[in-house]
Amino acid sequence: MLGLLVFLSSCGDMLVEKDLLERPQSKRCGDCHSEIFREWEEGRHAMAWKSEKFRLESENYTKTKCLSCHAPHQVDPEVKPVLREKFFEDGVSCVACHFKDQTRAMHGPHKVWSPPHPSKEDLSYIKSEFCAGCHRETYKEWKAAKLNFKVEKSCQDCHMPKIGEKRLVQKFPFEYFHSKKPRHDHSFPAGIAKPEDLRMEIVKEGNTYYLQITNVGIPHNLPTADQGDPKLYVVIDWGRGRTIKLLSPQSQNTLVYGKPMRIELPWEEPMELKVEILRRLSWKEERERISLQTFKIAR
Ligand code: HEC
Ligand code: HEC
Ligand code: HEC
Ligand code: HEC
Ligand code: HEC
Repeated sequence: MLGLLVFLSSCGDMLVEKDLLERPQSKRCGDCHSEIFREWEEGRHAMAWKSEKFRLESENYTKTKCLSCHAPHQVDPEVKPVLREKFFEDGVSCVACHFKDQTRAMHGPHKVWSPPHPSKEDLSYIKSEFCAGCHRETYKEWKAAKLNFKVEKSCQDCHMPKIGEKRLVQKFPFEYFHSKKPRHDHSFPAGIAKPEDLRMEIVKEGNTYYLQITNVGIPHNLPTADQGDPKLYVVIDWGRGRTIKLLSPQSQNTLVYGKPMRIELPWEEPMELKVEILRRLSWKEERERISLQTFKIAR
């Protein structure tokens, strides 16, 4: 084994699989990085081009201003990407996020020895700025939260959660020459807010009662979007009636991190209120419950 290792490292360039430097499709990366490929395939970045909603809203891919972030050539921190030349159906692909024209190497967070392709350690991968060229609005909101409330967590901390130490490759013989390394979920889960992320209180001003909701847990607007249309529903049930307040980025009323929002309540006393908060992601039909709380108002 050691002999083979010495032999392999002395081969240098001979082991480079040259097609990897010609911007192949993600499934080619999956020949070795098969676990990461499977995660990516299940996530939304892999759907960015194929999504039926995107096809319709980009008018069958004819609105050219829509295309670059959904099939990018190369991702650089805080830079809006340009459209690539081929393999559009791959959406936000492995190569787009990891291969750089400048170095002709795969950039990533670790220092690795990778015979099939050159690699370069690049710490921009663990910073929110990496996501900012496409998630432009969300990044601005996050930056405001960071400035005003000293939020420490990055986009990656929440949307590429740690999944332990694992091998980066699952292919013979490479998997035996590499130690396990920290891995991050490449399905880029949106996650869902916890009930305690949204603080709810009843406040009274003059003769009017308000339900006051504060986003204290998600350091960007809730819901947040650049182009998508996610929604939040606040369903208020006071026994004799029900109102539904709809919050969405498109109607510009969202829960800004740290900023209370007030919804006027009907004037009745005493009163028992049931407040349910539901969310709907841009690409999903179903509504999912975030929280359900009951309040009693009595003199
Ligand atoms: C023939 C096998 C093979 C193929 C195919 C392959 N890689 Fe790799 N890759 C490796 C090996 C081996 C390593 C080093 C693993 C280690 O050290 O744990 C690596 C490491 C990496 C890293 C880690 C860099 C870092 O600093 O964290 C990235 C990113 C990467 N590859 C991206 C890609 C992409 C993108 C593709 C498709 C274009 C690809 N690889 C195709 C074998 C391969
Ligand atoms: C090249 C542009 C681009 C970059 C860079 C990018 N994204 Fe995305 N992201 C998208 C697009 C486009 C979608 C929507 C895909 C779809 O649903 O059709 C998306 C979807 C997502 C979603 C899913 C949201 C949902 O509603 O389920 C999350 C979470 C996400 N991205 C997080 C990140 C994070 C974290 C980073 C940085 C590490 C990042 N993205 C970098 C373009 C990008
Ligand atoms: C600056 C990069 C960027 C550009 C340009 C862009 N998008 Fe997106 N798009 C995103 C990101 C990031 C998401 C992920 C969800 C979100 O934040 O809205 C997304 C998500 C979406 C979604 C929701 C996900 C889905 O598959 O249902 C649709 C639809 C969409 N975009 C359509 C468009 C259309 C139409 C245009 C042109 C008018 C466009 N996009 C231009 C970055 C971009
Ligand atoms: C939206 C951009 C994006 C896409 C698409 C993407 N990656 Fe990554 N990848 C990242 C970021 C950011 C990190 C660093 C995460 C961290 O350290 O917090 C990373 C980390 C890695 C690592 C180091 C191990 C780990 O899990 O942290 C490897 C290897 C890797 N990616 C390979 C791939 C391969 C192969 C694909 C396609 C199947 C792919 N990536 C798709 C952004 C992306
Ligand atoms: C402290 C954790 C945390 C951080 C940091 C964070 N997010 Fe989120 N994000 C969430 C949670 C939780 C949700 C799901 C909210 C819900 O719908 O319940 C979410 C939702 C999203 C969505 C889906 C749209 C929506 O409103 O549901 C996108 C896109 C997104 N985040 C992108 C980002 C980007 C880009 C960054 C960095 C600039 C970031 N997030 C930072 C926790 C976080």
